[in-house]
Amino acid sequence: MSQYESEIRRRRTFAIISHPDAGKTTLTEKFLLYGGAIAQAGAVKGKKNSRAAVSDWMEIEKQRGISVTSSVLQFQYDGYCINILDTPGHQDFSEDTYRTLMAADSAVMVIDAAKGVEAQTRKLFKVCVMRDIPIFTFINKMDREARDPFELCEEIEKELGIETYPINWPIGCGKEFQGVYERSKQEIVHFTGHGGAKRAAATQISLDDPALSDLLPSKLLGQLRDDVELLDGAASEFDTERVRHGKLSPVFFGSALTNFGVEPFLERFLELTTPPLPRNSDEGLVDSMEDDFSAFVFKIQANMNKAHRDRIAFMRICSGRFDKDKEVYHLQGGKKIRLSQPQQLMAAEREIIDEAYAGDIIGVFDPGIFSIGDTLCAPGKKFRFDPIPTFAPEHFARVRPVDTMKRKQFLKGAEQIAQEGAIQIFRLPYSGMEEVVVGVVGTLQFDVLEYRLRSEYNVEIHRENLPYQYLRWIESPAEITEDELTLTGDTKLVEDYHGGKLLLFSNAWSINWVSERNKHLVLAEFGSGKQ
Ligand code: G4P
Repeated sequence: MSQYESEIRRRRTFAIISHPDAGKTTLTEKFLLYGGAIAQAGAVKGKKNSRAAVSDWMEIEKQRGISVTSSVLQFQYDGYCINILDTPGHQDFSEDTYRTLMAADSAVMVIDAAKGVEAQTRKLFKVCVMRDIPIFTFINKMDREARDPFELCEEIEKELGIETYPINWPIGCGKEFQGVYERSKQEIVHFTGHGGAKRAAATQISLDDPALSDLLPSKLLGQLRDDVELLDGAASEFDTERVRHGKLSPVFFGSALTNFGVEPFLERFLELTTPPLPRNSDEGLVDSMEDDFSAFVFKIQANMNKAHRDRIAFMRICSGRFDKDKEVYHLQGGKKIRLSQPQQLMAAEREIIDEAYAGDIIGVFDPGIFSIGDTLCAPGKKFRFDPIPTFAPEHFARVRPVDTMKRKQFLKGAEQIAQEGAIQIFRLPYSGMEEVVVGVVGTLQFDVLEYRLRSEYNVEIHRENLPYQYLRWIESPAEITEDELTLTGDTKLVEDYHGGKLLLFSNAWSINWVSERNKHLVLAEFGSGKQ
């Protein structure tokens, strides 16, 4: 195997999803600890009491204690090169989660052992299923009083409609949580440790070893033997193909806080997941091992660092190797370009890189040329990766600057935030330039807009919520005014920033009503997806 091939083969790129507070951030941090990227857990957290961890950037995330934007981290573990994509824990950002999952080859779902499947777990899981990728489950917080592990697996199966296969099994819970039983090796991994700032010490011992009775209290050992009998008697088989298609979820138990079970999870997870998977394009599948470079943009983020006022396009490399001096072809722009200041993220640090391989995520400086879903390939090639669909907004508001003198900054800010895909913006025909109609998938995005306009563009806004819930693009005729249409009183004609016309509806009934009475009208649920 060439060095180039082995670089790609050792890569693993995955996303982590969870209901807020299930322990996603803590688990990510512990991965970094085991990978040697940080010497001590907790060190990467900000000031005391700050809920901001390694991968949180924006002030609003800290204030609300949620992760709004997905971030990317790379670290090494046991010969693997791992890219972790963090996803927002809130359903209002499920579109961002979807885009992030486009860049991942598998997902890890973190579940709180005391709470089981929670509201956001369900929502985010649905987004995962749309992507048809392997989903691994980590049942966290076993160091606390936890629900019965059988019951938790049953709940995942019933609530989420995915089969489960426990790869390991917890030994006790709460203060008695001692470690995990590895089913394939019939071996116990027993942990001791203090607090979890450092790695936990692990001892491996076979289930048949007589010395086990010195290690575990007889009650726990008896319980474990009964559980193992039940598990082995259960019909479900481990089927790698079903795992690959997200039909069967391998389940692991542990505590991200004490580190018990973190390393067994990481080891098996890395074995069970694949190197970078091929991606579909309009010229067929593009394999990660192909020599030529290709990538697509899945996320754009402006002003990550306020001091620099920069804009970064994040791309997933799908094939080949990225070299900092090589030219690439930007398909949507129709131009050869050099990607400037290519960087990778290690915790909060950004590092300029010289090379990266298929599976890696790189961020490049974006002078305003990229849109979400754009393809980059080797000069001479002209294929396009499958587009990333946009979610239809469900909430709308009319927004204008409080100070009309700030019209320019306001429009610039709103347009840039729309280009990042965080919101969609429209205008009312014949209305002044100082107001826009904003459409979002979740209402928290309005707060993000308000916050970002204030902090990054110095613009206070006035927001008036509108009663619309549905949006349809008018595919034809191209030119039309409200007067030429028979509309219900609560339907509104708006324009996107490319001159496309759309109708906003308050309910599904109105869509039918309008379609019935305007036979010449062709409506579409999805637009170009570009702002
Ligand atoms: P999230 O990213 O999924 O939102 O969750 P996060 O890791 O921030 O964890 C949420 C809270 O749960 C944190 O406590 C964290 O310490 C705790 N936690 C995470 N994993 C475990 C675990 O395995 N066991 C236990 N007992 N707790 C865990 P916090 O008090 O909100 O924050 P902090 O003061 O510890 O930072």
